[in-house]
Amino acid sequence: MQIIRATDYYRMSRMAANIISAQVIIKPDCVLGLATGSTPIGTYEQLIRWYDKGDLDFSGVTSINLDEYKGLSPDNDQSYRYFMNEHLFKHINIKPENTYVPNGLEMDSEKACASYNEIIARCGGIDLQLLGLGHNGHIGFNEPGEAFEKETHCVDLAQSTIDANARFFASMDLVPRQAYTMGIKTIMQARKIVVVVSGESKAQIVREAFFGPCTPQVPASVLQLHNNVTLVGDEAALSLIP
Ligand code: F6R
Repeated sequence: MQIIRATDYYRMSRMAANIISAQVIIKPDCVLGLATGSTPIGTYEQLIRWYDKGDLDFSGVTSINLDEYKGLSPDNDQSYRYFMNEHLFKHINIKPENTYVPNGLEMDSEKACASYNEIIARCGGIDLQLLGLGHNGHIGFNEPGEAFEKETHCVDLAQSTIDANARFFASMDLVPRQAYTMGIKTIMQARKIVVVVSGESKAQIVREAFFGPCTPQVPASVLQLHNNVTLVGDEAALSLIP
């Protein structure tokens, strides 16, 4: 594993964006695995700045996102499809038809997950997967205890996640109870993985995930077994690593 230390969130985002840019320049028709959440926002902003300057061309790129809430439509502002459109896709020249997010409106979970696995296979797999890290070590929606051998699957959200999301919805009934996520196996099949971490609140889990035992109780710890992982963090997030 390679570790890149940045002094702050802005520089961390720039470093991660540099790695993604290099991938796009070296292989203009590459497949990028993308993540939502607060951490990658700065990375996407930097990619947009370089695109605006004319330094990057996404016209040949395909993107495949990690996860989506089951039951949410793309125009729901809490959906991950909406997030990706707002934070990246609508600002660059990636072809909308080459951007994939699990279909939240497909209520048949098996169908939704099988078709997502097919998409990943049809695209030839993921060249570079960008990941954030949950405070409990989750990656995608793979929570502690999830089997390492899973591909895209449907997960029941923890009650704490449902409660935390409730504030974004008009009523409790509208809060998603399930989500589709790439599994650990799918993530591990990416040829290169870049993990972005920022802030003191991530310091303990960064230490456990990358320097502790490899266990399903800390899903991200499986990344220690991948042969091409780059951890990009700011000082605060990397403050507890040996
Ligand atoms: C996002 C995702 C999640 C986040 C993780 C960290 O698609 O699947 O695993 O990467 O929850 O989120 P932030 O970056 O908000 O701390």
